[in-house]
Amino acid sequence: MSENQDVQKRIDTLTETVNDYAHHYYVLDQPKVPDAEYDRLLQELEELEAAHPELKRSDSPSERVGGEPLDHFRKVQHDIPMLSLSNAFNEEELRDFDRRVRDGLGVNPTYSVELKIDGLAITLKYEAGEFVLGATRGDGTTGEDITRNLKTIPSIPLKLKESVTLEVRGEAFMPKASFNRLNEAREEKGEALFANPRNAAAGSLRQLDPKIAAKRNLDMFVYSVGQIEGKTIDSHTETLDYVSKLGFKINPEAKHCNGIEEVVDYVNSWLDRRGDLDYEIDGIVIKVDSLDHQEELGFTAKSPRWATAFKFPAEEVVTKLIDIELSIGRTGVVTPTAILEPVSVAGTTVQRASLHNEDLIRQQDVKIGDRVTIKKAGDIIPKVVNVLTEQRDGSEEDFSMPEHCPACESELVRIDGEVALRCVNPECPAQIREGLIHFASRDAMNIDGLGERVITQLHSRELVRNVADLYRLEKEAIMALERMGEKSATNLVEAIEATKSNSLEKLLFGLGIRFVGSKAAKTLAMHFETMDALMEADKEALIAVDEIGDKMADSIVMAFEQPGMKHLIGALKDLGVNMTYTGPKRITAEESDSPLAGKTVVITGSMEQYSRKEAKTEVEARGGKVTGTVSKKTDLVIAGEKAGSKLDKANELGIEVWDEARFIDELS
Ligand code: IVH
Repeated sequence: MSENQDVQKRIDTLTETVNDYAHHYYVLDQPKVPDAEYDRLLQELEELEAAHPELKRSDSPSERVGGEPLDHFRKVQHDIPMLSLSNAFNEEELRDFDRRVRDGLGVNPTYSVELKIDGLAITLKYEAGEFVLGATRGDGTTGEDITRNLKTIPSIPLKLKESVTLEVRGEAFMPKASFNRLNEAREEKGEALFANPRNAAAGSLRQLDPKIAAKRNLDMFVYSVGQIEGKTIDSHTETLDYVSKLGFKINPEAKHCNGIEEVVDYVNSWLDRRGDLDYEIDGIVIKVDSLDHQEELGFTAKSPRWATAFKFPAEEVVTKLIDIELSIGRTGVVTPTAILEPVSVAGTTVQRASLHNEDLIRQQDVKIGDRVTIKKAGDIIPKVVNVLTEQRDGSEEDFSMPEHCPACESELVRIDGEVALRCVNPECPAQIREGLIHFASRDAMNIDGLGERVITQLHSRELVRNVADLYRLEKEAIMALERMGEKSATNLVEAIEATKSNSLEKLLFGLGIRFVGSKAAKTLAMHFETMDALMEADKEALIAVDEIGDKMADSIVMAFEQPGMKHLIGALKDLGVNMTYTGPKRITAEESDSPLAGKTVVITGSMEQYSRKEAKTEVEARGGKVTGTVSKKTDLVIAGEKAGSKLDKANELGIEVWDEARFIDELS
């Protein structure tokens, strides 16, 4: 064999092996080898290709990195138009669709149901198994050739497992995690943010420079075959099986349903679960399963009669921004909130939405009177994601942040390196009120019945000026508040009294020292055991504690130097508030004989007998330390069912892994 033949053989093997590993990783979500092994082979391939460019294969994984920018996208005529779907907005309309289908066919069909991915429709052409053309939908008849960008999407096969000629269609999208990462990076660089993952995906695929698309972590699910040579397929379910066998990524949630009742159940089951997915969906697509039935039903001018899209209540709507209100947080940060013309989003009425911070207002150029897009996804607080500047009529008013605190009139400052404006007056009534709310909240002192409404009244009537005053409250004073009877007042006094015996970490977190979250409060309380010991600790003693960093240590020292803080703690002590740690005793690695002692442990996946929180307590009680991310410092990963990327990472790094059974064994 000549040298070139040898090289070609090696290039062939490497191309095929790397593509197979990538298929397992990106399409099947079942990595076959550690990342390092994949990288090693890819590097060898790239080196060979650099030395012998003429031997590089068209399906080489190195094709995915991008290449030179284009100067425009070529127009592509679709052989078969890319239609859209009719919609059903409620159960009744869904049942109407089923009735029309049954009337049209004269029999009861079965359905294939799948998620409606909120991305953009894409068509992919393969000739003899090779990816030759990928295009956008465009106006349905003519789209744009974005082959180069699509090649950068790792789940789109460059070569199929069979040498077929066909066209498939599906949805390209950006996973939520990639979207959030992208926007965070853009915010840091002061670049305009994408309003949602769909726009981000579309924007990425519309870039003439494929290197940009390559960095955007896009993905694609295939959901239909447009045309195919030399193969008959009988049903949509079969279509999905077949394209999956060819190497395409199909959505794992698709289901075959025996009638409309099962369809309705499937749709309902997704209404409150959609937020759990790591990509956005905007509905459910219902398709008559048999392709003969599909043909019999045919199309209207715009859409197939054999399919419909059940659309979820919109998570994004447009409404008018009527005002911007400012609120002062516990730490003095000024946050603007948009006051909106009430509008229904995802099933609830929204009148307020977060505007995040001043930079965002400037970036988005929000004016009072603007029409804005509001987004409410899952339990997340609604936020303003976009301003429809093109709809302005000139009556809109500029908004700028004030120079003085709206609550106490003191000058607002911008601390170096922070985007937020801050009121630094420790006597600011708004901050005090927020501080009281925080003190009573669940992870802090957890005072039953003492919510925002009651605190606002207690504070505005000057019955409570600081957290110590809460312990001085008498029943009669509380009874004078709105909607407060004798019984509730008695309950509240008792609830406040009961929190005097809380363990130290609750009080410590409740004091609201900057950077001290509930987790750090617990670590500190466990370590120092008493408030006095903590107050005496200098910076060195603080940073010697695991997980306490420089910034937090400075903040703690500074907080306890304040005369106001010393006075407050003295007052709480005099009122009988407990100042010691009374939680489970910290076991040091030396004291514990458990195999978990001294280990850095990551818990992932779901277990039958333990919640993750319970498992964590068990590990900590044996002198182990639980962290959230797998790294070289991790000693052990406890992996329940459906453990995902953390388990992969552990395997890749060669870290010891226990399943639930082993964990239970080791506990006893
Ligand atoms: S089937 C004749 N299945 O929804 C059109 N479409 O109006 C057949 N979409 O832009 C489309 N997920 O890109 C189908 N599982 C799915 C889908 C899906 C998202 C998009 C599609 C199109 C729109 C339908």
